[in-house]
Amino acid sequence: MDKIIVEGGHPLHGEVRVSGAKNAALPLIAATLLAPGWHTLNNVPDLRDTRTIMTLLETFGVEWQRDGSTLRINSTNLSNCEASYDLVKTMRASVLVLGPLVARMGQARVSLPGGCAIGARPIDFHLQALKNLGAEIVLEHGYVEARVEGRLQGGTVYFDIPSVTATENILMAASLAQGVTVIKNAAREPEIGNLVDMLVGMGATIEGRGSDQLTIHGAKKLQAVEIEVIPDRIEAGTYLIAVGAAGGDVTVTNCNPGHLPALLDKLRKVGLKIEEGKDSIRVRRDGPLRSVDITTMPYPGFATDLQAQIMALMTLSNGLSVINETIFENRFMHVAELQRMGADIRIDGHSAIVSGTGKLTGAPVMATDLRASASLVVAALAAQGTTEISRVYHLDRGYENLEVKLTKLGAVIRREKE
Ligand code: EPZ
Repeated sequence: MDKIIVEGGHPLHGEVRVSGAKNAALPLIAATLLAPGWHTLNNVPDLRDTRTIMTLLETFGVEWQRDGSTLRINSTNLSNCEASYDLVKTMRASVLVLGPLVARMGQARVSLPGGCAIGARPIDFHLQALKNLGAEIVLEHGYVEARVEGRLQGGTVYFDIPSVTATENILMAASLAQGVTVIKNAAREPEIGNLVDMLVGMGATIEGRGSDQLTIHGAKKLQAVEIEVIPDRIEAGTYLIAVGAAGGDVTVTNCNPGHLPALLDKLRKVGLKIEEGKDSIRVRRDGPLRSVDITTMPYPGFATDLQAQIMALMTLSNGLSVINETIFENRFMHVAELQRMGADIRIDGHSAIVSGTGKLTGAPVMATDLRASASLVVAALAAQGTTEISRVYHLDRGYENLEVKLTKLGAVIRREKE
């Protein structure tokens, strides 16, 4: 396992280019299962998670080739419809193959993902919705067995919580279903819009893009397509917060400022100077950090995937910040590690009360999940002294070349074999 060593106290300057979004690439890759032929996906990040889903698709008989950030995928000859536990347990987003496999092949056997560090992460919304479309669902031996005679049938689906991957699973399944499907209380994350664009390009008719109600007119067959993965708004947000922590003046390029409305509003209230371009954001810190309160919400609210990172920033402010995590039940794993660096944080149920002390000190810390590890990097960039972050395989799931990109901005950061 690798570790990352950071010497804090170096402001960041220059430009950093954001990669394609992990949470868009994964559903787009799963959607290639819906149609035979060669699909072309551009701006696909090279991450542990994108490599994992390609390994999973290979077990189905999918051919693929990567040329830089372009991924070409051919699912013409699907010979297997089982997603095994040993792969699914490493990446719960594997559940995204369930909808496409049932829709295309009439059957699927996908391991239940099990929990993860940030919560139980059930998939009951996915399963109930597939039943609404006519699939027969059986849970046994830790697997979901789904099957349908002939085609799935269009129906109405209502999500109690606007689940991102459940919305994506049903969007894909409904695109090959007979008739019309309506998804109510659908998630509205930009990654959903990227998937809608791909499915429409493949031949589905979909109304309501960007809204919480999606209407999908299924097609009998879909065609292979070329699609561009949208920029990673969470990676972009992580760099903006890092400049808040370390100080400096950075332009984040190849990003979409419109995908970060809540974060940009909060960072301006913190006191950072933010300039929005067409596909770039310039961020400068030239004064003390003010504390702000945060409540994570489904898009367009404040992203839960940026909660750990902004908490690290709030430990450096000079006031009190209350951070409410409303999406996941256990997404404060980074708190204990930040406390080792001198942060003053008290957890009260789903809230973390941060008393900003204005400084952190370097220490050996451990990554526990993807965004917690990003939070520790943010903290380390600002801490006095050196910080060693172990178990960075968590970080490698969702950030492409993070230490290379930060080094180019002037950070003193390196990776070592543990
Ligand atoms: C997606 O996870 C993202 N992952 C997560 O990013 C992100 O944190 C999350 O959406 C929220 O924005 C991908 O897109 C691959 P949900 P997902 O279903 O779809 C409950 C990262 O760091 N729920 O929107 O799994 C669930 O427990 C990752 O990149 C059910 O109860 O999240 C949670 O409380 C972490 N039953 C809430 O809904 C279900 O069937 C929202 O979860 C599904 C979800």
